[in-house]
Amino acid sequence: MGGDTIKVVHTIRDMQSHSRRLRQDGQRIGFVPTMGYLHEGHLALMRLAQAHADAVVVSIFVNPTQFGPNEDFAAYPRDLDRDCRLAEKEGVAVVFTPEAEAFYPPNYQTYINLEALPRHLCGVSRPGHFSGVATVVAKLFHCVTPHAAVFGQKDYQQLAVIRQMVADLNMDIEIIGAPTVREPDGLAMSSRNAYLQPEQRPAALSLHRSLIQAKQAVAAGTRNVSTLITAARVEILAHPQTEVDYIEICNPVTLDSLETVTGPALMALAVKVGQTRLIDNMLLTD
Ligand code: PAJ
Repeated sequence: MGGDTIKVVHTIRDMQSHSRRLRQDGQRIGFVPTMGYLHEGHLALMRLAQAHADAVVVSIFVNPTQFGPNEDFAAYPRDLDRDCRLAEKEGVAVVFTPEAEAFYPPNYQTYINLEALPRHLCGVSRPGHFSGVATVVAKLFHCVTPHAAVFGQKDYQQLAVIRQMVADLNMDIEIIGAPTVREPDGLAMSSRNAYLQPEQRPAALSLHRSLIQAKQAVAAGTRNVSTLITAARVEILAHPQTEVDYIEICNPVTLDSLETVTGPALMALAVKVGQTRLIDNMLLTD
């Protein structure tokens, strides 16, 4: 893999004409949207995209419309040069980095809103977040015109939102979900992990540990959701600087809360460790 010099595209028009040429050449376009500061989780998505396409496009765009007014848009880590080198090593053909002003000019007015999925999980404490995500992904799809696009299961609700949008709006794009890539100690990789102080690591690890414990409890016969959630809360709050946003067990398709685990069940949680908001999730049943 690799070898060819990566192409970095900054404008919407250049991206659209490049994609048109790829399609005219009969190439299948695979797409990985990101906000950059790439880590191994992003690179795994690129490898999966390679397996489903002839040419892979990666976008790097810290999307202002998916951040709330008190969130970390300005502080979000950025390193375009390093990102381009990493993407090039993976054999990515194009990195697309549009300017925020070009994507959202002053008279911008159009947003995509889903009805039900954003009422759950992260959508409760991040109003407008999934509207921002759906909107930017739709816009990126119109620039890149992919045949297939890859999203991580680490952001489970985001993947569900994108699948729903693609189905509802009849977009002819195959959506591929990729498993969560973790550090050796179990922490789900995230660009936001760069915010963590070394002494906050045990607290950050409690998210994954509490998911594993819940899965083991279900395997051992526990069915009561409030029992499972209480155990997770105790595990997480045993660490300093932790604040639970939510811990939920829900239907993996609708994201509706469950009271008992009788079939497919997803456990999802969001926890603040100091100032850093972390999320993780796991299917409790196979
Ligand atoms: P970002 O957080 O940069 O993530 C880009 C993609 O990488 C998403 O599909 C995310 O689910 C995936 N990803 C992140 N960490 C992962 C991990 N540890 N294992 C597997 N996949 C992982 O998600 C976004 O950006 C934005 O919301 C975006 C979709 C680009 C829209 O702005």
